[in-house]
Amino acid sequence: MAAELVFLIGYRGTGKSLLAGLLATRLNWQALDADSLLEERVGRSVKQIFADEGEAGFRDREAALLAELCTKQCHVIATGGGIILREENRARLKAAGLCLWLQANPATIWQRLQADPRSDELRPNLAGGGLTEIEQLLQVRTPWYRECADLEVNTVDRTPAAIVDEMVAFLRTRI
Ligand code: S3P
Repeated sequence: MAAELVFLIGYRGTGKSLLAGLLATRLNWQALDADSLLEERVGRSVKQIFADEGEAGFRDREAALLAELCTKQCHVIATGGGIILREENRARLKAAGLCLWLQANPATIWQRLQADPRSDELRPNLAGGGLTEIEQLLQVRTPWYRECADLEVNTVDRTPAAIVDEMVAFLRTRI
């Protein structure tokens, strides 16, 4: 492993932010949420950045931030669900650390997003919204998540503690 750096990748609603915090605590590392950091720096929500600059503008900012985050050590970084879209990002993720791919099926993701009262306020539609958007984008993105993933982790019907146990057991073999 090039550095003591772990990226949580996966679609929206797979628990990346929550699990990054829990995993970092277990490892005695720091947790960072890339989208939250971007929002803090830009002073606007991701949804507002999409509205002002289009998806391409957001993706440029996301890629620049990733390049910076790849220099961190002893961090667990929750990435945005679309980080794997650019080849440049995938290369960086693979070179800089270990990628844990959090998985859930479209119906579960849709339920989780609907249950989050802040979802509409924070999350831009990417391709029309709803369950159909999730199904379509997951199909397109799955090969890219798989390309980056050092470990595939199921998040459906499991407690956060059980998921973190699995991730820690894996990382102990690699760090
Ligand atoms: C996106 C996921 C979001 C955020 C942006 C785009 C995507 O992050 O980066 O809305 O393309 O899937 P989360 O996965 O943290 O919701």
